[in-house]
Amino acid sequence: MGAREAGLPDVVSSSDLPAEVTIWEVGARDGLQNESAVVPVAVKLEFLDRLAASGLSVLEATSFVHPKWVPQLADAAELLDGLERRPGVIYPVLVPNERGLDRALEAGVTHIAIFASATETFASRNLNRTLDSQFEMFEPVVSRARAAGLDVRGYVSMCFGDPWEGAVPRSQVVAVGRRLLDLGCSQLSLGDTIGVATPGQVEALLHDFGDVSALAVHFHDTYGQALSNTLAALRCGVTTVDSSAGGLGGCPYAESATGNLATEDLVWMLDGLGVKHGVDLDKLVETSAWMAGQLGRPSPSRVVRALT
Ligand code: HMG
Ligand code: MG
Repeated sequence: MGAREAGLPDVVSSSDLPAEVTIWEVGARDGLQNESAVVPVAVKLEFLDRLAASGLSVLEATSFVHPKWVPQLADAAELLDGLERRPGVIYPVLVPNERGLDRALEAGVTHIAIFASATETFASRNLNRTLDSQFEMFEPVVSRARAAGLDVRGYVSMCFGDPWEGAVPRSQVVAVGRRLLDLGCSQLSLGDTIGVATPGQVEALLHDFGDVSALAVHFHDTYGQALSNTLAALRCGVTTVDSSAGGLGGCPYAESATGNLATEDLVWMLDGLGVKHGVDLDKLVETSAWMAGQLGRPSPSRVVRALT
């Protein structure tokens, strides 16, 4: 069944929402990094191509991290070598350090993302660094990347809660985020890595940042709050939202992290609100249903399940 036959209700827009949203699709990276089986590179390439064909213009493709830390993405160079880049689509990759940057530059990337932790424990578990020393690792990455003409996004993980430290003080998140912006990141994506936030906390954090023009949001859906949190962020003026086709995702270094906000669930909400996004929902659902078949289990996305 397509979206139309499913009985789409009338569009009812709301004046406190942006006219258009950029969807930052992370399924091929955040989604596949958490799969227990390594997905063949040919399947990843077809996934990326189908995502581009569905109208998504930002496809986070892979990570140049240590292959022993994330074996699922150890094929990053091979993937980029085989990637047919579609015009108008950008393919950012995660890069933690200078070794990762060297590998990404060799692969011809134009957009990278560094990823910082808002907490001491996750900095150690995810990056083998302290909260403070993660910035020593990032500084040369950002300066060299920018000198080479690359765009650099910064992630902040554990923005709301941390499985080892509990609630994370907003001042700590803002301080980490500001340091990434000061290093030269053009955009900051605020990650609810373990999906514990609720909308009031999202509003409070965005309020503490003040200017939201460089902010994006990245919600995992562990407690079913990702879509509500996204709506809260849109109402605060955020216009870039991270999501993952079919709701794939998680973080191998935070066991309580499940999949990201499903792109289909986001698109359904944006359609109903009359917010532009450029994605063909039926094509995207077909892609996620196909990927679920490749992975051998149903998609966790409610919209994918309703439309297939
Ligand atoms: P380390 O062990 O401290 O690395 O790991 P090192 O700097 O000490 O180097 C040790 C060896 O690793 C050296 O080799 C390096 O060359 C090599 P040797 O000299 O011993 O032969 N090495 C590398 N090789 C290939 N590529 C590299 C690389 N770096 C070093 N990039 C490191 C530090 C950062 C590398 C490691 O901790 C790591 O790879 N961590 C990545 C973890 C990860 O990818 N987590 C998931 C992504 S984050 C996430 O999902 C959250 C997000 O979605 C937002 C949210 O949800 O909140 C973004
Ligand atoms: Mg994530």
